[in-house]
Amino acid sequence: MTDRSSRESNPVQTSELRCIGCGVGCQKAEQNFRCTACGDLLEIVYPDWNSAELDPFTLRDLWRQRRTSGLPVDESGVWRFRELLPGFHDWQEIITLREGNTPLYEMPSCARIAGIQQLYAKHQGMNPTGSFKDTGMTMAASVARREGFRWVACASTGNTSASMAAYAARGGMRSLVLIPEGKVSWGKLSQALDYGALTCQLKTDFDGCMRVLNEVVQRMPVYLLNSVNPYRLEGQKTAAIELMEQFDWQPPNHVIVPGGNLGNSSALGKAFIEMKQLGLISTLPKVSIIQAEGANPLVRTMRENGGKKLISVQAETVASAIRIGNPASWKKAVGVLQTTGGAVEQVSEVEIALAKAEIGADGIGCEPASAVTLAGLKKLVKQGFVKSGDSVVLILTGHLLKDPEFTLKFHRGDLFTGTEKEEEADILRPQQRPPIALDATMDAVIRTLEETDDPLKT
Ligand code: F0G
Repeated sequence: MTDRSSRESNPVQTSELRCIGCGVGCQKAEQNFRCTACGDLLEIVYPDWNSAELDPFTLRDLWRQRRTSGLPVDESGVWRFRELLPGFHDWQEIITLREGNTPLYEMPSCARIAGIQQLYAKHQGMNPTGSFKDTGMTMAASVARREGFRWVACASTGNTSASMAAYAARGGMRSLVLIPEGKVSWGKLSQALDYGALTCQLKTDFDGCMRVLNEVVQRMPVYLLNSVNPYRLEGQKTAAIELMEQFDWQPPNHVIVPGGNLGNSSALGKAFIEMKQLGLISTLPKVSIIQAEGANPLVRTMRENGGKKLISVQAETVASAIRIGNPASWKKAVGVLQTTGGAVEQVSEVEIALAKAEIGADGIGCEPASAVTLAGLKKLVKQGFVKSGDSVVLILTGHLLKDPEFTLKFHRGDLFTGTEKEEEADILRPQQRPPIALDATMDAVIRTLEETDDPLKT
């Protein structure tokens, strides 16, 4: 970028950090991104948003025009919406892999299965490293570099670490990854290694990795890139803005998001609430959050005390990305559920596996954690919370190729072998398409074609 083009002609937004608990503001966060007064999480607020510069018609036009620009800052599906993000005075400071710009797909066969007419998938797995994390990482990694950090760090179930390692490498920083040993898919682990992260496999779960990292950042000058970092959530917000642009600013009735550490649902909810405040949309979609039955702290928290106090759990699920029992952003997520009127639901392991295959059969595909959205939608339709005429968007958070081992085991029929779910898993049989080993002859291939459930006629 030239100096002239990288300097913004529009005024840069002023943003502030504010505690979500006691409301105290601060200019600069501590290493652990917690309020020094009460220990709660911080969020980013924009005191100058009432100015006339944020006229919805002007903003929509400006964002559309940028789609034809060749500048990296405009090509990014995150920074294109920079009027609603913390500002950078010099856009050469940002680290971008041209994240965002993800497709919105119609899901006709999944819609039929769920019993609704209008179903879409916003596929955040189509980001540069294959998950939604990139939209937040471009923002927070850029802040890390601007603040002069040489090292960034995260605890992860795999996707955050893959994304962080890539953005750190692009930005000339080193990255430290803490992951639970044996619980991260090989696809994600191999990304972190290739992007040059210092990768530590700890003998604990995600929650244990998070605890250790929180202690490390208090002692060492490393910049924390988990979603407690509110800059991550600001970047992730843009998926909702882009979604509304794709819907020509007419919100769907429902948006359904998987829930793990609860950063993404918090970010998307914040975006919808802000867009409504700014007059970019006139109604709020209901943001619903779906968890795996074995990793359901938010479900329990809402059902057992109405969202007042987090009930942590010992998490276990085949959807390893959301194997989280002590989610950091639970309070923000409760706020989103309450403000948008969304539901919280849990789904079983077999329901997740079935939904993932159904999304695959629509020609889209995703990783297991993303499939909780369709499994949850089916339940919300049965309960009458989602009506057959409602429009619904599933947020697919990760790419199918993130966890090929899960998919292979599913189709070979041994995903649940030797577990107490073996019998229940019988319902998966019709979806299973195992690879068939054949002799290398035309006859063998033709015989196989003739034996399929949809035989070719000559
Ligand atoms: N889907 C995928 C594919 C994920 O990787 C994650 C979280 C989630 C959903 C849940 O999002 O935590 O914002 O509620 N993965 C994190 C990681 C925890 O380390 O990659 P959340």
